[in-house]
Amino acid sequence: MRLETIAIKILPKFILAKFGVNFGIGKFAFDQKLDIKADITQKYGFSGDILDLYLNNKNQVVHKWHHYIPIYEKYFARFRGRKIRFLEIGVSKGGSLQMWRKYFGEEAIIFGIDIDPNCAQFNGQAGQVRIGSQDDLIFLESVITEMGGVDLILDDGSHNMEHIVATLNYLFPKLSNGGAYMIEDLHTAYWKNFGGGYRSKSNFFSFVADLIDDMHHWYHLNKVKRPLISNNCASIHIHDSIVVIEKDNVFEPTHSQIG
Ligand SMILES: C[S@@+](CC[C@H](N)C(=O)[O-])C[C@H]1O[C@@H](n2cnc3c(N)ncnc32)[C@H](O)[C@@H]1O
Repeated sequence: MRLETIAIKILPKFILAKFGVNFGIGKFAFDQKLDIKADITQKYGFSGDILDLYLNNKNQVVHKWHHYIPIYEKYFARFRGRKIRFLEIGVSKGGSLQMWRKYFGEEAIIFGIDIDPNCAQFNGQAGQVRIGSQDDLIFLESVITEMGGVDLILDDGSHNMEHIVATLNYLFPKLSNGGAYMIEDLHTAYWKNFGGGYRSKSNFFSFVADLIDDMHHWYHLNKVKRPLISNNCASIHIHDSIVVIEKDNVFEPTHSQIG
């Protein structure tokens, strides 16, 4: 049994919180004898075809939290059926690339990267797979060059706070205008073994707080802290464990009165 699992069983919650113990995701697992489709449609009132693509996924495993499915649709739908360039960080068992191919269509340029060399077996199936680490900037550069640029990024990789920030800082400036950058599984932001912690400076949501301040720099006298992102940050969306940053030109706001 993992030391953390034993600690969770015997120590009071306030002590666990102090040490940022990661209690894992096991307790949230859906009982697969029950109806996944009913769970998602009933809770979220959602019935888009991405749900069927997820449910009908075969041979290569895809692992998703149920509430992510409508969130994907909300931000990804406008990229469907187009020759977009999509990068997924974290290939794992190959099922998600398979799902994205069906979702975005044959025209899309789909690349997946993973640090695990076993993922090379999926290369050339639903998309191209390249092996390397998401915090290796030379590797990222080579992938983006090969892709001919990038319009949409999904970070489902290490979920390590330093990696998330390094990858975002490097890739967001490369993202095309009108593109979107989604980071998932951000419950890890609260866990020390992912470099996070409750209200910790390294928690990714502290970085997001900087972006919010930067977005409103017109209205205060403090320095812009994250210009690589905020100079072209059109919007920031926060969901449970997901952050989406949409990229576009940013203009000084103005107002007028009519009538
Ligand atoms: C959560 S899984 C991805 C799941 C997959 N996207 C899906 O939806 O089924 C995370 C993956 O990230 C990979 N990974 C871990 N550290 C990484 C790193 N530094 N760079 C790139 N990939 C990494 C792991 O090998 C693992 O396959």
